[in-house]
Amino acid sequence: MRLKGGVTEAAALLFLVLRLDVSYAFEPITTTVVLGGLGASLLWGSVQNYFREGCNAKWIEFNGTGLKVDLEEKLFGQHLASRVILKAVTGFLSHENPKKPLVLSLHGWSGTGKNYVSQMIANNLYRKGMRSGFVHQFIATAHFPHAENVDVYKEQLQQWIKGNVSSCPRSLFIFDEMDKLHPGLIDGIKPYLDYYEHVDGVSYRQAIFIFLSNAGGEKINKVALDFWNDGRQREEIQLSDLEAAVSLDVFNSKQSGFWHTSIIDKNLVDFFVPFLPLEYKHVQKCVREELKVRGKAVNEDTVSVVAKEMTYFPKQERVFSDKGCKIVEKKLDYYLED
Ligand SMILES: *[C@@H]1O[C@H](CO)[C@@H](O)[C@H](O)[C@H]1NC(C)=O
Ligand SMILES: *[C@@H]1O[C@H](CO)[C@@H](O)[C@H](O)[C@H]1NC(C)=O
Repeated sequence: MRLKGGVTEAAALLFLVLRLDVSYAFEPITTTVVLGGLGASLLWGSVQNYFREGCNAKWIEFNGTGLKVDLEEKLFGQHLASRVILKAVTGFLSHENPKKPLVLSLHGWSGTGKNYVSQMIANNLYRKGMRSGFVHQFIATAHFPHAENVDVYKEQLQQWIKGNVSSCPRSLFIFDEMDKLHPGLIDGIKPYLDYYEHVDGVSYRQAIFIFLSNAGGEKINKVALDFWNDGRQREEIQLSDLEAAVSLDVFNSKQSGFWHTSIIDKNLVDFFVPFLPLEYKHVQKCVREELKVRGKAVNEDTVSVVAKEMTYFPKQERVFSDKGCKIVEKKLDYYLED
């Protein structure tokens, strides 16, 4: 649409200059140069505008089928997370006037797919996916490393969130290492997660906040291991089996204790999403997927060599991958180089 507008403007200008040309008899060559220059720069501006990401349906459109397919086909071993995420995101995005922003808290061991799922959500909501200017990612230890600067960070973070949501209500914020985020910063984001209609004149109700953390990971692992020891399928694990793991007990340490009391007790988190530890067969799937993504033939020898290189716990039984699928890419790089 913008392109069309630009072209119309250019045409109008052209017409005007042509008329001037007739009435004042400009020197034809000068006129042509001026005209050409004007037209070209107008067109160039329009073309740039056309490709610039905007906060509108052309750039932001949720693809529920896409998210479903991604979760089914590319997220391995997470029957619970997959179900909760799809329901939460689809439900929120089909609501025209939600009462609060969507707040998801993703818990589990590293490499189990928390980041991956966040990317899937971004990819199926924004045309530019994670590269969208409406996706904002914060990593506690990288962005806010010094506890003594917490007041400055807090101020900055609030400005960011406010600025970002003002320029586009449908913004996505991803906070990695949430359990390492300073209590002062948690305090700083709290107002935006709440049921307020406006905070300083800005509504945050269309925004999505995703918190990632390892908090509860050990408890989740223990539940999964108990199931395994009892010879039960991991798919039998229900959310209720993990409830204790991702609620009270998790937040015993000082820092996450604050998180607990301030965000969780106030019910600001809409969904807790547990990620189970991954088994050998899931790591194999990750390797196959990574080979596919790289356009390489899926060679089962490569798959088992890479999967076997990962370390597994508990030491004796070797059931779950220590790092999930986290370093599959690097291992594969190394292996494919030879
Ligand atoms: C939504 O996702 C599905 C599955 O990935 C894909 O086939 C379809 O083209 C997508 N639709 C749009 C509008 O992008
Ligand atoms: C939005 O957030 C980014 C960080 O992701 C920040 O650099 C930028 O300045 C913010 N934009 C506004 C308008 O505040």
